[in-house]
Amino acid sequence: MCGIVGAISKNRNILPILITGLKNLEYRGYDSAGVAYLKNNKINIVKTSGKVSKLENKLNKSDESNIGIAHTRWATHGKATSVNAHPHRVNHITIVHNGIIENFKEIKEMLENNNYSFKSSTDTEVGCALLNYYYEKFKDVDKTIKAFMDKVMGSYAITMIIDSDLDNLYVLKKESPLVIGISDNTNIVASDIRAILKYTNKYYILDDFEYAKISSNEVIIKSIKGEILNKELHTLDLKDNDNSKGHYKHYMLKEIMEQKTTILKTVLPFIEEGIDSLMTLPDLTKYKEIFIVGCGTAYHAGLVAKYLFEEVTNTRCSVYLASEYRYQNNFLSKDTLTIFISQSGETADTIAALKLVKSKGYPTLGIINVENSTISYLVDTCLYTKAGSEIAVASTKAYTAQVALLSILVHSHGLRNKTISRDNTIEVIDEFKSIEKLITPLLNDKDTYLSIAKNIYKEEDIFYIGRGLDYYLSMEGALKLKEISYIHSESYAAGELKHGTISLIKKNTPVIASATNSNLNAKTISNLKEVLARGADIYLICDDNYKDDTFTIVNIPRASEFVKPILVIIPYQLIAYYTATLRGTDIDKPKNLAKSVTVE
Ligand code: G6P
Repeated sequence: MCGIVGAISKNRNILPILITGLKNLEYRGYDSAGVAYLKNNKINIVKTSGKVSKLENKLNKSDESNIGIAHTRWATHGKATSVNAHPHRVNHITIVHNGIIENFKEIKEMLENNNYSFKSSTDTEVGCALLNYYYEKFKDVDKTIKAFMDKVMGSYAITMIIDSDLDNLYVLKKESPLVIGISDNTNIVASDIRAILKYTNKYYILDDFEYAKISSNEVIIKSIKGEILNKELHTLDLKDNDNSKGHYKHYMLKEIMEQKTTILKTVLPFIEEGIDSLMTLPDLTKYKEIFIVGCGTAYHAGLVAKYLFEEVTNTRCSVYLASEYRYQNNFLSKDTLTIFISQSGETADTIAALKLVKSKGYPTLGIINVENSTISYLVDTCLYTKAGSEIAVASTKAYTAQVALLSILVHSHGLRNKTISRDNTIEVIDEFKSIEKLITPLLNDKDTYLSIAKNIYKEEDIFYIGRGLDYYLSMEGALKLKEISYIHSESYAAGELKHGTISLIKKNTPVIASATNSNLNAKTISNLKEVLARGADIYLICDDNYKDDTFTIVNIPRASEFVKPILVIIPYQLIAYYTATLRGTDIDKPKNLAKSVTVE
């Protein structure tokens, strides 16, 4: 979603830094962009709806500056117009802002009563006016920021330029991420360090209710009380952050292919030395029930874990959508562990659900991909997936890394509660160690996926079905397809079709299924026959060499319950990918979607 970059330098033109930073944040999803920089001793603001390249074209090529701020906005309050785009400026203050000022209406009224008027419909302009109001009142930045933090409810990462103090940038933060990158005579602010890695990998992380004064060669970070803080300087490992597309046309395809290594990389620390390594995972036997919370693909990974916890280790597990979990009776107790799954570690609903559990004092565990992200800090224990940077909005390698890590976690639990034997563990460890060999033929089977894609890409409704684990996997399959191809696709428990959905089946309606559980396959296949009899075209992913000329069949190798989900999902990912290529959609940045959803 929204992205921030800000830079100040003694000897460099910062405009390329701002534009490069914004381009690196594009993948997160946005619909307008803007920049403010010092030009002829005045703040010059250029904004546009649409892409960063459009903004770049609007900039005067010969302009240079040594202080500036920039933003990509994903519309929440007000449409995606250039008026609503950031930066916003009110009298002496210019800001960019990520997050939402929840009490902006009340603040706006107060400011209107104090002769402020507004051009945009954004909460950010109200925040900017509030900063200006306090600055004019106190004539002091520390007091201004404290008063702002005391007054504003909601979330913010703000980068600010004050006209009377052009040797400094100011940043303030609550609940939206913000880092300060350190370079030679140049300091760079960003909502994600990965946006500015070209310039630096050394950075400070701002925590909630902290703010900083940043000049070209100094960073002073303070608490809301105005105390100077001695913060840790972090260094990001560059080798794990390859953001290039390589020879692939889309990041999504590159990321699907990277699963050859990311799955094993994620689980290797826990299987390398066999059972001893597994025992380094947290002991879950002290909990009576496991709760799992996440959004989108992370939620779907949680469902796979639920299946494994319940069916293999006889441990109750409930999975919740983070956006729902906060507003329902959540039955927490000291006997429950809540696991939060998130690729970005910044999803607003997941963070809010986590804060709720923490506020009650109950234990939490995170399965997170992005190191040093908000969730990774908030959870009691954090396990990292090692998927590396995931740029495509539709999650693929992060999902399989989550599933793999959860599988290994469940496995260690099963060993501890004696529902899994040591022999079984050795087999599963071997499977994970040979995961590349297992998945490479599936990843390379382009002809099969493309021929399915050619049959379905003109359709507007596609149904996915499955039973048990296959039902959960079909949910992820349907999500992948709808996200990137814009074809309406839904998944249903195969047995439920007869209770409603079958009425929608007509001649040539595609129905895609997986059947990989020998106890349930016969039932799923009868459900497929039922839709076949009503004219549907059937595509079946299965692992037992099932033969049926009336279906199009994708065979996957046989594997244990722990590895099978990974094998099933690869055809689903690639069917979605090739279908979207035939529809010519913007696969890596689908319309209306954002990679990291930082608003509730
Ligand atoms: C967005 C992304 C999805 C992702 C979901 C949860 O909707 O487009 O790909 O699954 O957020 O994100 P998280 O970072 O918490 O896993």
